[in-house]
Amino acid sequence: KPRVLSGIQPTADSFHLGNYLGAIRQWVTMQETHDAFYCVVDLHAITIPVEAATLRHRSRVAAAQLFAVGLDPERATVFVQSHIREHTELAWVLNCLTGMGEAGRMTQFKDKSAKFGESAASVGLFTYPILQAADILLYHAESVPVGADQKQHLELTRDLAQRFNHRFGDTFTLPQPHIVKSVEKITDLQDPAAKMSKSSSSPQGIIDVLEQPGPMRKKIMRAVTDTGTEVAFDEENKPGISNLLRIQSALSGTPIPDLVARYEGQGYGTFKKDVAEVVADTLTPIRERTEKLLADEGELDRLLAIGAGRARAVAQQTMAQVRERVGFLPAY
Ligand code: TYM
Repeated sequence: KPRVLSGIQPTADSFHLGNYLGAIRQWVTMQETHDAFYCVVDLHAITIPVEAATLRHRSRVAAAQLFAVGLDPERATVFVQSHIREHTELAWVLNCLTGMGEAGRMTQFKDKSAKFGESAASVGLFTYPILQAADILLYHAESVPVGADQKQHLELTRDLAQRFNHRFGDTFTLPQPHIVKSVEKITDLQDPAAKMSKSSSSPQGIIDVLEQPGPMRKKIMRAVTDTGTEVAFDEENKPGISNLLRIQSALSGTPIPDLVARYEGQGYGTFKKDVAEVVADTLTPIRERTEKLLADEGELDRLLAIGAGRARAVAQQTMAQVRERVGFLPAY
């Protein structure tokens, strides 16, 4: 089976609907067709300051949500990034192959650092995409399911793999991003021009997977739409409605044109109510399963230890090869 790898940051107390539709849902389907490795990237999460207890809690919540959406610990290797030392080790080697200018062109760094002022941002935030490249290359992943915002990081990953292979001999697989166009960028409910984002959306603009159905419904009913009345898919003139149509279509499996036909002449109210319903119906069981998993931390940690064992076996093998190729002396 081809190998797939992806990661998600434990940077909030819940994933949001954009993470779920843009990435995690694909993780679940791909565990059937691929040799799947999925990690909670806690090393990435500390690129922005966070309290130790908060990070620990969020990493467990993240792992619980991954199992709750349907990742099967028997089939998929679900693990925590910091458990596998080889991620930081390979990241160092790749740091030394990356140009300052090349790293400086990463738009996500520019966006995130702009919030603090660039000089207050950590060097870790700057090298974030290089650690991400290490995550992917360590496992020789062919495919990486992500949202559109990760395209540039995947291009850097391919460039670094190619550079390493060219300089030290064929070692790494060149990964392809796996991006599902219809859900590649779920937008902020209050600002349909911006993506739904853990770090920049207001609470009104974001639907959390672990949120109660009540607030979820309210946010969808209050989602910013244009002043018209017609439910139509028009990204340019009706970005808010188009976002809701994409969400409803992805969750219900009904093609967008069929939805548009269904709401003809009905205005926005009925439509939004139905979107709210399918969102709540999908996320409620996930929240309930997450709560159950979190009630038994011992069991959760045991599942993560199994994942770490499988991940480590692959990562150690890759790193042994990298060490030899780069010219590090064998350690006895
Ligand atoms: P993170 O935690 O920011 O996002 C997790 C995944 O969710 C996707 N995503 C979205 N998709 C559609 N619409 C949105 N509004 C939306 N917001 C987020 C992201 O594209 C991502 O796929 N850098 C990665 C984490 C990472 C990683 C890796 C990914 C670290 N190492 C290795 C793949 C492979 C990130 O952005 O995570």
